[in-house]
Amino acid sequence: MVQLELRVRDLVDADLVDCGFAGSALHLEQVAKELERARRGEVDYLAVCAKADLPLAIGGVDYVPHPDAGSLWQFGVHPALQSCGIGTVLIGAAEQRIKDRGLDRAEIGVELSNPRARKLYERLGYVAYDERLEAWDQQAPDGSIVRYETLCTQLRKQLR
Ligand SMILES: CC(C)(COP(=O)(O)OP(=O)(O)OC[C@H]1O[C@@H](n2cnc3c(N)ncnc32)[C@H](O)[C@@H]1OP(=O)(O)O)[C@@H](O)C(=O)NCCC(=O)NCCS
Repeated sequence: MVQLELRVRDLVDADLVDCGFAGSALHLEQVAKELERARRGEVDYLAVCAKADLPLAIGGVDYVPHPDAGSLWQFGVHPALQSCGIGTVLIGAAEQRIKDRGLDRAEIGVELSNPRARKLYERLGYVAYDERLEAWDQQAPDGSIVRYETLCTQLRKQLR
């Protein structure tokens, strides 16, 4: 058994080179744009790191979709380190950021095809209340960009 001391901090541009686990080159370009929004205060973008200070997991909180809540999105843990509790740590830190802004609700959307993530959110107190069709650009293995559409369950949690 190995125990890791984890720290959650803001993701910065220099981290992106180490975030290949989180998605395609297109996805990381989108994350870079989110870091610009973070500098404007519209989102928080977090990284969970161990001693080497390299991101093991990343994820954001967007304050624009719901003015009275923070929306958790783009959560990803390095595949080699999933199911060790790192996602739970990241969600806890994201919820703290929401509370630090004086807000008392967290929202998250999860694809119907991702029951494991949904189970984790429900275990942490999130309650499903809606389903919505969402769409975003994805990079195919040949580098082409395709529009991906998927049905997502919306969940929310009262933080206090
Ligand atoms: C979804 C995701 C972010 C969750 O992060 P994670 O680090 O795997 O989550 P956790 O380890 O905190 O919890 C997941 C499971 O591990 C278990 N677990 C947590 N801590 C544990 C520990 N110390 N020892 C053993 N198991 C543990 C949890 O009980 C949970 O079990 P469950 O799946 O049966 O509910 C991550 O798996 C991921 O990146 N998946 C791919 C991308 C994705 O789906 N993103 C979310 C989009 S909405």
